[in-house]
Amino acid sequence: MPAPANNSRTFQKVTFGLVILLIFLSIGLAAFHRTPWQVPQEEKLRKNPLEPSVANFYAAKPIYDENCANCHGDSGKGDGSDAMMYDPTPTDLTDSAKMSKLSDGEVYYQITQGRKPMPSFRTKLTEEQRWQLVIMVRALAGSLAFPPPPAKAPEPPKEKQPDPHAPQH
Ligand code: HEC
Repeated sequence: MPAPANNSRTFQKVTFGLVILLIFLSIGLAAFHRTPWQVPQEEKLRKNPLEPSVANFYAAKPIYDENCANCHGDSGKGDGSDAMMYDPTPTDLTDSAKMSKLSDGEVYYQITQGRKPMPSFRTKLTEEQRWQLVIMVRALAGSLAFPPPPAKAPEPPKEKQPDPHAPQH
């Protein structure tokens, strides 16, 4: 009965295959882990067409809060509410030493393309919104500073509108 011998040879082959697969997977994962982003040179050289103005910064803030803060955190430290779910963890955007090495075009490219687990924002956000986010990313790293938003004035008491249905005299 040759069956048992055959079975054990098949078993050996499968085990061997699995081991090889595991080795390649771990090499692959290690390579994937924190390798620098590959950004084409012409993308790196792109300039932000937007002024680093207060208006652009305050336009970017709600976009950041809605699309980025869950991972990168409200203040950009990479400590958003979902950050723990991801490997690699979201970059600390306040790391000025690291962030100052990236050109505006590079940051724009990263936001546009994404890299797992970071999603691509190419279709989700307009070009203008992505360039505004570049300004936001600079502000998080402290290389651009903006005055705090004006304190919200208390709502003035609503003036009584004349009642149009009031009987006219
Ligand atoms: C799902 C979580 C997630 C969201 C949402 C997300 N990111 Fe990321 N981001 C990451 C992770 C994780 C990395 C690191 C990826 C890597 O190094 O491979 C990263 C990297 C970056 C980098 C690159 C910095 C570097 O390491 O070179 C920038 C810039 C960035 N994110 C900005 C943003 C902006 C702006 C938004 C919102 C439009 C955003 N991210 C949304 C998870 C996220």
